[in-house]
Amino acid sequence: MVLEENRISSSEPTIAQRMLGWFVEHSRELPWRRERSPYRVWISEVMLQQTRVDTVIPYYERFLERFPDIEALAAAPLEDVLKVWEGLGYYARARRLHRTAKELERSAGGQLPQSSEQLEKLPGVGAYTAGAIASMAFGERVPAVDGNARRVLCRVFAIRDDVTRSATKRRVRALARELLPSENVGVFNEAVIELGATVCTPRRPSCSSCPLADECQAYAQGEQEELPVRRPRRKTPHYDVAAAVTRRDDGAVLVAQRNVEDMLGGLWEFPGGKCEDGETLKECLAREMEEELGVTVGVGQRLLVVEHAYTHFRITLHAYWCRLVHGEPRCLDCAAVRWVMPEALSSLPMSVADRKVAEMVQSG
Ligand code: ADE
Repeated sequence: MVLEENRISSSEPTIAQRMLGWFVEHSRELPWRRERSPYRVWISEVMLQQTRVDTVIPYYERFLERFPDIEALAAAPLEDVLKVWEGLGYYARARRLHRTAKELERSAGGQLPQSSEQLEKLPGVGAYTAGAIASMAFGERVPAVDGNARRVLCRVFAIRDDVTRSATKRRVRALARELLPSENVGVFNEAVIELGATVCTPRRPSCSSCPLADECQAYAQGEQEELPVRRPRRKTPHYDVAAAVTRRDDGAVLVAQRNVEDMLGGLWEFPGGKCEDGETLKECLAREMEEELGVTVGVGQRLLVVEHAYTHFRITLHAYWCRLVHGEPRCLDCAAVRWVMPEALSSLPMSVADRKVAEMVQSG
């Protein structure tokens, strides 16, 4: 990596100088660092929201291959975008990327805006992502503080306030702004994120290999493992969910597409829903099939049980074989409904839990 020459020189390196030097030596080779177009920074930063680097890499490579630029993304059907995103989670991100690409094609010549202020107006782009794109792709002198960078800064400046509060986030962002170098701002921002991801880790940080160890107030006071402070998470609720694998005599099974504005919107599923208090799983399925598709089903044997954790809750998905007893399926509370042969299930975008059920259906 070649850095812009740094104009400021003094005997003691600044935090920014230390970070830039460290990043040149120690940063990981990541696919989005090979070529820095605004589109690539945008896609990678959206994928990296709430998702680990190792998970993102293969998705990023496939996404860029299939949708190499804004024009290709805008021209694709949403279902193709969701299919490439399948398994990455937080599907609203994919829907928003697609919607934004279409909007940029229509009204901005297919170009992303260059300032963080304008970028922040795009759907799904908050202060962090706008700062990351503006600094890394356009060189704007603006901070980009994600969870990794926030941890680094809370430790360096021994900030003991609850980091989940927005006042603390603002304070950390203001500190980050003060540290920005006059050149290489994007590299600096990425370096702080990288330090948080690889050295200044949540547990057992490697302070002996940290370029900021001399500056770090938490380290000086032996507090690096206690910071940052966050209020304890509430216990995540658990729901039992029933799903119907309704099979016709010709072997086709019934799938429904979730409403676009709902969680997992646009994905296909075996219809069903959350079990209410006092209801058995079979009663729940019969009710959900009436409400969602206007049909009466007979509920048969259980096919599979899948445990899955989302950010704010956990589910146990109970899939049952069903038979249509009465009525023709129509969408009362879904985006579309379709009979498909088991082998065709692979081409539909589905959530991780439903994909496991689909694989079971296909295997027997
Ligand atoms: N997390 C968020 N942005 C990142 C980046 N550019 N590199 C590595 N991890 C990140």
